[in-house]
Amino acid sequence: MKRIKLWDKEFEISLPFEEIQKAIQKMAGQMKVDLEGKNTLFVCILNGSFMFAADLMKELELNDAEISFLKLASYAGTASTGEIKELIGLNENIKDRTVVILEDIVDSGHTIADVMAQISERGAKEVKIATLLFKPAAMKTAVHLDYVGLEIPNDFIVGYGLDYDRRGRNLKDIYTLVK
Ligand code: IMP
Ligand code: MG
Repeated sequence: MKRIKLWDKEFEISLPFEEIQKAIQKMAGQMKVDLEGKNTLFVCILNGSFMFAADLMKELELNDAEISFLKLASYAGTASTGEIKELIGLNENIKDRTVVILEDIVDSGHTIADVMAQISERGAKEVKIATLLFKPAAMKTAVHLDYVGLEIPNDFIVGYGLDYDRRGRNLKDIYTLVK
């Protein structure tokens, strides 16, 4: 097993690039069927989704697809919630459009639920979620995931856009923390 070290922690390979690619091709195939002719706006959530979005868009055979990039900024907010996440960079008019949110991973589901709510608020006709990775055992919200690439165990992973304390995003494969 290929191992790497990031900061103080060791990780071993768990999803090779080829497996990720196959999952993405499958998602792109489903999207072609569902979204043909819908003038869909794909919204990539930075930073984690940059590799997934790039590879998915290359596989997607939709001539009317458009892509935009959003950043989620967290900051200490009201005392009650502790943390508020704000979406930065969505300049497109999404009123009455079909929007597909591209996420790297859904863990508890709180992030995607936040993003979903903020995009719906801006008047989109329909909002779908596509996540490359999903940890079913960690899910704590009732958000419906329209497209899921791979279901994974409830372990910490890095690579293919995902980081451990800023490092590991550039890895081509996905690695799991060695406990
Ligand atoms: P959630 O809000 O709990 O669903 O978490 C989603 C966000 O947490 C993702 O967009 C990632 O940025 C981050 N995240 C969740 N699990 C992992 C992981 O295993 N490795 C790295 N980042 C993760
Ligand atoms: Mg993310």
